[in-house]
Amino acid sequence: MVTFLARLFRSSVMIKIIMAVSGLGIIGFLLAHLTGNLLMFGGPEKINAYGQSLRDLGPVLWLLRGGILLFFIAHIWSAIMLGKRNRAARPIGYAMKKPIKATVFSRTMMLSGLTVFAFVAFHLAHYTFGKIQPEFFNREYTLHDGRVTHNVYEMVVYGFENPAYTLLYVLCMTLLGFHLSHALTSAMQTFGLNNPKYSKFLRRLGPSFAVIIVAAYLSIPVSVITGILKHKADIEHTALSNEGGIIKEMKQ
Ligand code: HEM
Repeated sequence: MVTFLARLFRSSVMIKIIMAVSGLGIIGFLLAHLTGNLLMFGGPEKINAYGQSLRDLGPVLWLLRGGILLFFIAHIWSAIMLGKRNRAARPIGYAMKKPIKATVFSRTMMLSGLTVFAFVAFHLAHYTFGKIQPEFFNREYTLHDGRVTHNVYEMVVYGFENPAYTLLYVLCMTLLGFHLSHALTSAMQTFGLNNPKYSKFLRRLGPSFAVIIVAAYLSIPVSVITGILKHKADIEHTALSNEGGIIKEMKQ
């Protein structure tokens, strides 16, 4: 039984399945994270209350975090294993370098994957551990119910007001898009969806999904740098000038 399981986990088909399942798990996380992040457009109360509601989950949040970590570990492990096997299968290399049917996305999977991995490490140091731009990390926000919580809204807005960070996020999200473009189509093929009837749809699925996800993620830094998303002081200032406008109109 043990040897059967060991052989099963070492088979290339099983490794491809682990890669596809963990990849889809990461995509699930990306969608959930994006939904939460878009609450930035609802203002500080919405995103900060959401952050607090996640923390209120207590041990369940740690279980979810453990699950995400497991997906990342399984995905990276399977990429290393498949990479090793592919190299071993063609030690001499191809005489003609240009692969047939390959796209720029499929050819840069290792590079885009490594970039996303490095980005996640940087991103955790930035927003989860507050080691990057620490001056914006320990800000507090009082929710409408009176609870004092972490000010995620200001941390993100102040952070992206620095064009260097915005540019870095734009570059990393673009490479995430490269990775997703090939990954989703490839995962569907691993699960046997390679019927010629759907091949056109499958070829378009990855790139279309990647464009939507990347555009939605980038809407946040781009909205900060263009002044659509403002920090609290600016919001209060705008509200006061509006009130001034109303008072002026009433006096006339
Ligand atoms: C503009 C894009 C993004 C923004 C504004 C953003 C924002 C944030 C914030 C504010 C947190 C900390 C939440 C908290 O502790 O209260 C966070 C955590 C995290 N982000 Fe992002 N994120 C972005 C993109 C991404 C992407 C593309 C990935 C994955 C490839 C990602 C992966 C993570 C992970 C793994 C965590 C830790 C989750 C946890 O500890 O529960 N983020 N993000």
